[in-house]
Order: sequence, then C-alpha cells, then structure tokens
Amino acid sequence: MNDIRDPAASGAPVPAPGASAPVPAAGIPLRGSEHGAALGPSFYETVGGRDTFARLVAEFYRRVADDPVLRPMYPEEDLAPAAERLTMFLEQYWGGPGTYSEQRGHPRLRMRHQPFKVNPDARDRWLAHMRAAVDTLELPPLAEETLWDYLQRAAFAMVNTFEE
Ligand code: HEM
Repeated sequence: MNDIRDPAASGAPVPAPGASAPVPAAGIPLRGSEHGAALGPSFYETVGGRDTFARLVAEFYRRVADDPVLRPMYPEEDLAPAAERLTMFLEQYWGGPGTYSEQRGHPRLRMRHQPFKVNPDARDRWLAHMRAAVDTLELPPLAEETLWDYLQRAAFAMVNTFEE
C-alpha cells in the first residue's frame, strides 16, 4: 500500500496494532514531500511563503555585506545571486516551490561549501547574522523555534575545517 494516509508511507513511526494513530501537536504543520501531496499546510505556507523567506535572506545578506570574514568568501560583486540561491533553497526545504533543484540540481550543500573555509568562527558569524535576521521576522514562537533549530543544525553540519 502506498497511500499517504498510511503512516508507514509518510515515514512516520507506525503505531503498534490497537494503538490510536499519532496525532500531530496542534499547530505543527507536516511538511509535504517532493514526491507527494502535502499532508497539511506546509511550514512554508504557514510562515508566509516566499515573502517571509525573501525577507529573511535579505536581512541576512545585509549583515553579511558588512562582515569582514564572510564577505570576502562570496565571489560576486553583488550578493544578490547568492541571496536568490539561499532563498530558493530555503523555500524548497520548507515545502515551497522546487525552483532551487530545477535550477541547481540536488542541493549537496556540504559539497558545495567545500571550496570555502567554514571553520567555527565562520559558522558563528553566519549564525549570528541569521539569528538577527530571524528576529526581524517576528514569527510565532513555535515557528521561530522550528526554523532556528534547523538553521543551527545545518550551520554546524557545514563546518569543514577547524583551521583558524
Ligand atoms: C556555516 C557557515 C556558512 C558559510 C560561511 C557559508 C558560505 C557560503 C558561501 C561563501 C556560498 C557561496 C555563495 C554562492 O555562490 O551562493 C554559499 C552558498 C550557499 N549556502 Fe552557505 N554558508 C554557510 C552555511 C549555510 C547553511 C547552514 C545553509 C543552509 C541552511 C547554506 C546554504 C547555502 C546555499 C543554498 C548556497 C548556494 C549553493 C548553490 O546552489 O551553489 N549555507 N554559502
């Protein structure tokens, strides 16, 4: 059976026979997969769609532009193309349009960051600017926590050197 109503097909834990089906906590949207229909409104929609992610990324890059360690890592004169790539990626990740992969292919983010020296200092700077950018969105607390938790985990996973 490959029905999205089947919890096994959604990747969710399968309840023991006789147990009642797991009920998602109120307000926690289930993210749609790239292969199937969303199980409810996506996180992307819940937090305000493209406008929210575009604002987040614009606030983030405004801060990167003034960062003496991060700014030189971005090759282009203008940060706009990098901002567009990050916006598309985040939209796709959170259940919005899949434009990122249509244009860039599989994200393979760790691989794409290999050319850059992402040490703990770079990570902490990235996260500090992102934290300030998230704050400007004034999201409801649960949404903010969900987004921030992901960004932190992703940033820690991107570290590829401990050289100063
Ligand atoms: C931890 C510190 C990080 C640093 C210093 C860093 C730095 C960079 C740099 C220099 C680029 C190249 C600019 C471009 O051409 O787009 C880039 C690209 C990108 N970064 Fe990061 N990044 C970090 C973390 C992250 C995280 C946590 C994410 C995702 C949540 C992310 C998502 C992306 C994406 C989607 C691209 C464009 C990839 C492509 O399609 O070419 N980065 N990053």
